[in-house]
Amino acid sequence: MSTIPSDRSPESTLAFLREGYRFVGARCDRLGTDIFQTRLLLEPTICLRGRPAAELFYDTERFVRRGAMPMRAQRTLTGVGGVQGLDGAEHRSRKAMFMSIMTPAAVRHLGQLFDDEWRARIPAWAESGPVVLYDEVGRMLTRAVWAWAGVPLADADVPRRTAEMHAMIEGPAAVGPGHWRGRLGRRRAERWAGEVIERVRSGALPAPEGSALRVVAGYRDEQGMLLPRRIAAVELLNVLRPTVAVDRFVVFAALALHDHPQWCERVRDDDTAAMSFVQEVRRYYPFFPVAAARVRRPFEWQGHAFPQGRRVLLDLYGTNHHPQLWPEPERFRPERFDGWRGDPFGLVPQGGGDHFTGHRCAGEWITIELMKRAVANLTGSMSYRVPPQDLALDLGRMPALPPSGLVLDGVRRTA
Ligand code: HEM
Repeated sequence: MSTIPSDRSPESTLAFLREGYRFVGARCDRLGTDIFQTRLLLEPTICLRGRPAAELFYDTERFVRRGAMPMRAQRTLTGVGGVQGLDGAEHRSRKAMFMSIMTPAAVRHLGQLFDDEWRARIPAWAESGPVVLYDEVGRMLTRAVWAWAGVPLADADVPRRTAEMHAMIEGPAAVGPGHWRGRLGRRRAERWAGEVIERVRSGALPAPEGSALRVVAGYRDEQGMLLPRRIAAVELLNVLRPTVAVDRFVVFAALALHDHPQWCERVRDDDTAAMSFVQEVRRYYPFFPVAAARVRRPFEWQGHAFPQGRRVLLDLYGTNHHPQLWPEPERFRPERFDGWRGDPFGLVPQGGGDHFTGHRCAGEWITIELMKRAVANLTGSMSYRVPPQDLALDLGRMPALPPSGLVLDGVRRTA
């Protein structure tokens, strides 16, 4: 049995926060390996990247999620007690609840709501002068997903609900005020989401058949029990928050259109090209850096021992940029997805494996639908300029975003 290569650092948490998306990849490159051991959050941690590693990581016989996610991420991003930290039968049952909401018709419906929001906003952008796309898309997605999920939302509350979602998303890797904003955003959001759940259960608030709100409020576990109110709030937020987070991918798509204008016409006129473009945006741009699990029971892989309980990180960004999987990984080339048959362990911006039985993102189809709608609107419903601004992506910042949020100017409706 061979020893897992080590980065020999007594503690790498600060390096991880500083180097961000490149942390795992840089060490893999330096050590000439796709597996190494380090210390993160005061614990020995095995880091992996690449397709075989993703296949291993999503084997639920070998890994569990209980206790894998750092507390600072649970207190901001995911909440405590949600589907992300469950295993076995409990996970399958809870995950089935999420997947029951993701029918093709429901996904299209959300896409349509977002599309309606977008088209309705164009005249206001045309009159207002420069707009920050990130801010605009965040609010449009908030309106769309609240309506889709059956959750009431007053116009006046849109900015603060959007801000709460953004704070939660930015909380895990933020230090100081950014992290505390994330915790506060989560506390507030869980409080009102819990009240909404309560009102549905008491019959005071009707929730449309099949809506996320109705499904989560009425979900019963394998013992026939309703979820405790706080956990139901966490799960409702597990639908609302990440849908708003698609605003980052929309900004990346707009950035890609700006940097590669030859794609504008192709994605507007050809659905297959639009799909390839969206997939390449999801592969190329940084969003979730890593996923975390713990070894269920000791095993050996590629001659390396994985001891029980050891925390293991899969480098999602690094797998999406692995040269053995993606030739010229640092080039944005949507045509690499022309005729692509799919690979559950190759393209992993939203996790790998199976949506129903594993921890792969429940909202992947929604994400793709919303990105396609955004790209269609950016190329087909409006013209605009991108004035000079700071668009540099800092891979040391998690989650990444161009500092300007992508300012658009001179917006005109074209269709
Ligand atoms: C903004 C784009 C999104 C990205 C980058 C993203 C990314 C991810 C990642 C990396 C995971 C964890 C995979 C793992 O633990 O192995 C995940 C899980 C999850 N995502 Fe997403 N996601 C996005 C959008 C969505 C949307 C739109 C929804 C719901 C409407 C959603 C709901 C979930 C849920 C419920 C889980 C937990 C799944 C489980 O543990 O079984 N996500 N997502």
